[in-house]
Amino acid sequence: MKTTITNDKTLSPALDFLPLEGTDYVEFYVGNAKQAAHFYMSAFGFQALAYAGPETGVKDRASYAVRQHALTFVLTTPLKPGNEIADHIHQHGDGVKALSLRVPDATRAWEETTKRGAKSYREPTRLKDNEGELVMSGIHTYGDTVHLFIERKNYRGAFMPGYRPWTNPNFRPADTGLLYVDHCVGNVGWNQMNPWVKFYEEVMGFKNILSFDDEDISTEYSALMSKVMSSGNGFVKFPINEPAEGKKKSQVEEYLDFYNGEGCQHVALATNDIVKTVTELQSRGVEFLKVPTTYYDDLLDRVGPIDEDLAPLRELGILVDRDHEGYLLQLFSKPVEDRPTLFFEIIQRKGAKSFGKGNFKALFEAIEREQEARGNL
Ligand code: FE2
Repeated sequence: MKTTITNDKTLSPALDFLPLEGTDYVEFYVGNAKQAAHFYMSAFGFQALAYAGPETGVKDRASYAVRQHALTFVLTTPLKPGNEIADHIHQHGDGVKALSLRVPDATRAWEETTKRGAKSYREPTRLKDNEGELVMSGIHTYGDTVHLFIERKNYRGAFMPGYRPWTNPNFRPADTGLLYVDHCVGNVGWNQMNPWVKFYEEVMGFKNILSFDDEDISTEYSALMSKVMSSGNGFVKFPINEPAEGKKKSQVEEYLDFYNGEGCQHVALATNDIVKTVTELQSRGVEFLKVPTTYYDDLLDRVGPIDEDLAPLRELGILVDRDHEGYLLQLFSKPVEDRPTLFFEIIQRKGAKSFGKGNFKALFEAIEREQEARGNL
């Protein structure tokens, strides 16, 4: 079996029991939220947005919300051991806890998903302050990761009740042109991809729009399989990876070993000008995977004409791929923790709605060189 495109049509709104308006925020559980927030501000160009902690009446944690255009990250750390946040960090290191989704009705989102078999993480809760009311609910997904449903149509505040606006007039790094979450990829265990595909289909009403088997995604040494799940309206996309047998260890297996379980492998961040964005990110210390410069020798033969000059793409290591609707430019960071776990993808879409299949081989060979250097291949 090769790549299959199952269905790229979106569901009619009347049939969509879980209408999603997009990603509301991504929450990371980290060992030191103050420093992590500084990293995302200084290196990635986010701005301070809101803070919650003992000063705002939250006793067990400190959370920093940072924002860049429609992209919001929350960095949360526990203030004491022996709780869900501390345990998560002990097990997984720094990583994604919540892929939070904006919904018109968080109560209905919870009811519709739990009645279809989702395990509840948080019953619908009304959070209020002087700026209005926000409704939050949540369900579990793979590993210790959760989806929170956020209904904020009656809330005017900076972020959410429990937080206070946070600014630092002396530290406002320029943004890097990152706009919104394009997709978030989950790594799951051996033989677990199809059960999670079924979960997203049955519990959340998603469709499997693309499948890659181990023939598509393999190098001489290592392999993985992937299926891309898309929400009914197409606004939210979650590819699911599982390892596949190869001569050496799959990159997904390395992730599972070091994350100590299933979790979010990468978050893809969209930009309208990838050359400018990656130039900024590199100059601020973000490290990216490099493909050999021979990748560019026959690039235009493979992908056809593109608007961008080849020289900066080659210099920055930006990858290009084309599908039947257009092309895309993408680049992958190295892991942003000491464990080889979560990384980021920077992506600019010029019509293409796919995920860069033409780059998989070059990319995975680059990942293998990193795995080899870590002694994990
Ligand atoms: Fe991706």
